[in-house]
Amino acid sequence: MSPSRSRSTKPLIVTVTPNPAVDRVLFLENFAWGRRIQVHRAVWGPGGKGTDGACVVAELGYPCLALGFAAGEPGERLAELLRAAGATPDFTPAGGMTRVNYVLVDTARGQQTTLTTDTLEVSPEQLAAFEARVDQALSRCSCLWLGGAMPSGVPDDLHARFIERARARGIPTILDARGPALRLGAAAHPTVLKPNEHELAELVGEVPEEPKRLADVLAGLLGDGTELVMATLGGRGAVAVTEEARWFLPPLRVPVVNAAGAGDGMAAALAIGLSQGWPWERSLRLAVATAAAIVMTPGTAECHKADVERLLPQVRLEPL
Ligand SMILES: Nc1ncnc2c1ncn2[C@@H]1O[C@H](COP(=O)(O)OP(=O)(O)OP(=O)(O)O)[C@@H](O)[C@H]1O
Ligand SMILES: [Mg+2]
Repeated sequence: MSPSRSRSTKPLIVTVTPNPAVDRVLFLENFAWGRRIQVHRAVWGPGGKGTDGACVVAELGYPCLALGFAAGEPGERLAELLRAAGATPDFTPAGGMTRVNYVLVDTARGQQTTLTTDTLEVSPEQLAAFEARVDQALSRCSCLWLGGAMPSGVPDDLHARFIERARARGIPTILDARGPALRLGAAAHPTVLKPNEHELAELVGEVPEEPKRLADVLAGLLGDGTELVMATLGGRGAVAVTEEARWFLPPLRVPVVNAAGAGDGMAAALAIGLSQGWPWERSLRLAVATAAAIVMTPGTAECHKADVERLLPQVRLEPL
């Protein structure tokens, strides 16, 4: 069944990422402490859920306005990355520095780790300016995407407040966050909730491995405005539930280069579907193809529309 909201003629996805980042992705072999490691490939990319997703939305051909706080040279680099992807960044200046995440990809072991810091500082005046920009963007928004945790100076219930304001205007929302921002945001019942396994554990405690049991747990998060819950499970795929249906989403078999941002790509596909009023199945198929297209590339959340289109016919949704 399809979501029942009506859409404006010019859909605009608005991403809200209070604590965005730029990713420096370093490819190396056999990381070990205490010795010199040669990095054989290094790429820059967006980081921080909503900004990742904004690049994916734009690559797939849909207009996207990326809101967030930014400061310093990394903030400028992030805005440039978004513009290069075709998204429109509109960052509110803050104190401190936009985060740089170091993503270490060990190509010999097939493992990866992200090192992250929290370095933005937001004043009450900057927060008020940001809230005003989000309110303004809501007037021409067809889907509001709320991503990530909060930087210093921003209350943890900010996503929850934006979810309520969007609902008052009939705008669907998608939440992909962690920690208190996730707990408070989930309690405000976004239209779509997209945790990974670790984030889901913060919400529900134990996360069953078996897809049918996991679907039961996810179903407990539906209602009061939440229409779809999707848990992503890394290389094991994903499980999605609505009131009417439950699916296991097996990942596509593609060469894995860098999985960072694959979950953000799935959320991007769901945001596109919400914005366009698509049936859930269509959005979920695009989500699986987009995730596969992202894991194949070296950059975080980097994908190519041609890969997504080529992979789309391979996607199978397994009803649970
Ligand atoms: N190693 C992998 N092999 C194949 N597919 C993968 C792999 N890792 C992730 N995927 C695909 O990406 C989807 C999302 O993955 P994951 O659970 O890692 O999201 P995430 O933790 O939210 O990621 P991020 O926050 O970095 O965007 C999976 O459902 C799967 O389709
Ligand atoms: Mg994620």
